[in-house]
Amino acid sequence: MLNSTLPAQGDLEASLSLYQLLDPEVLANPYPLFHRIRSADPVHWDVFLHSWVVTRYDDVIRVLRTFSADRTPTPEQLSSMGLEQLSPIAALMVKQMLFMDAPMHTRIRSLASFAFTPSRVTVLRDRIVRVADQLLARVLDAGEMDVIAQFASPLPAIITASMLGVPEEDHEQLKAWSASFAEMLGNFQHNPDRIPGILKTVEDMTAYFRDRIREQKRSPREGLVHSLLTAEVNGDKLTEEEVVANCIITMVGGQETTTNLIGNGVLMLLRHPRELERLRSDRALLPSAVEELLRYDSPSQHTARIAPSNQMIGDKEIRAGQAVIAVMAAANRDPDRFPDPDRLDLGRTDNRHLAFGWASHFCFGAPLARLEGQIAFERLVQLPNLHLQPTPLSWRSNLGLRGLTALPVAFGRLASLPRFESYKN
Ligand code: HEM
Repeated sequence: MLNSTLPAQGDLEASLSLYQLLDPEVLANPYPLFHRIRSADPVHWDVFLHSWVVTRYDDVIRVLRTFSADRTPTPEQLSSMGLEQLSPIAALMVKQMLFMDAPMHTRIRSLASFAFTPSRVTVLRDRIVRVADQLLARVLDAGEMDVIAQFASPLPAIITASMLGVPEEDHEQLKAWSASFAEMLGNFQHNPDRIPGILKTVEDMTAYFRDRIREQKRSPREGLVHSLLTAEVNGDKLTEEEVVANCIITMVGGQETTTNLIGNGVLMLLRHPRELERLRSDRALLPSAVEELLRYDSPSQHTARIAPSNQMIGDKEIRAGQAVIAVMAAANRDPDRFPDPDRLDLGRTDNRHLAFGWASHFCFGAPLARLEGQIAFERLVQLPNLHLQPTPLSWRSNLGLRGLTALPVAFGRLASLPRFESYKN
């Protein structure tokens, strides 16, 4: 099906291209494709993407550690491609920490980390438990739910609002903006039809955070917006534009990914009933279970970098300025790093996966994501006789942020869930 849409470049190139992910069957299980690329050509020039693709654990680490994250096209580059209408998006992205190198990145990240301390994450813990229980209370009596729509989407959206310090009632709007922005970030294919929608999202999100900043200057409210406004390191502060841009990337970064950790994780547990049973009977496994689910079906499958100089990776010469796609999801199944990588083992030790990235851009929200994951799985595995409804599954057409559109499950009816038990940061 897909090959008819690929330019004629020979079967081998087509079969090793990440464009194969446009085929719904490959998207449903991309791991055979990743194994094929890693075995046949681990440092692969993808002729369709005009990028290098690295899939080995060590190579992905090297790229994330030493290559440039500054990959937003300049206005001149955009206009040379006839894409000048994307300039407002590029103008926002250049101020976001995810798309910067040191020293700019170090400056923004340290001011932002100052505003997002471990104690702030701990405060959010009680809120996560309460929201998770409220969401589940609505479905306990029905004995069925769509895990995505009724739990995995609203939970991170509400917690993100709380983390930012904006009204929780806005969570549906935050979710819609985040989904629209994430769709652009996660996809390789340029789709002109989507540009007006993404431009509108950027305009609306920017106006929203400007309004919240104005409000919070008058009446401060605990959360990241206010902390970023006031964060100061050695007399240095963020500008209002930087606060807006980094609130947006934190809001987007924290939602689709966490939704997908919960959704993909529940599906993997249901497909591995013995592991599900193991977790049910030993809640002390929760921290390592979350790490293993992140490794096994990573919510953020790949990211991109630019080569800072000419250099060899393996036997291939990467030239300065060329794009490199680092496939964390493939590295997380590299048999040279993880014994028996296709086996889900919730008690796996030595599990230093790359699902949160590596080095200076390592996920800023990882402690919060881990906590949300542990609490979500702690609550969900208590649903008796949890099982999939007999409906075909469909995966979001986002090639980078892997997640389901819906996950209908059924379970035995329950009056209430047992008390929340345990978690670890
Ligand atoms: C399971 C959930 C999550 C996953 C799998 C995930 C994954 C990632 C990955 C792979 C990166 C590095 C990308 C790169 O190097 O190009 C990253 C960075 C980032 N994440 Fe997360 N993330 C998650 C949750 C969160 C949460 C809850 C937040 C917000 C509190 C967040 C905010 C960010 C930010 C702001 C960055 C950029 C850091 C920087 O550039 O220094 N993420 N995340």
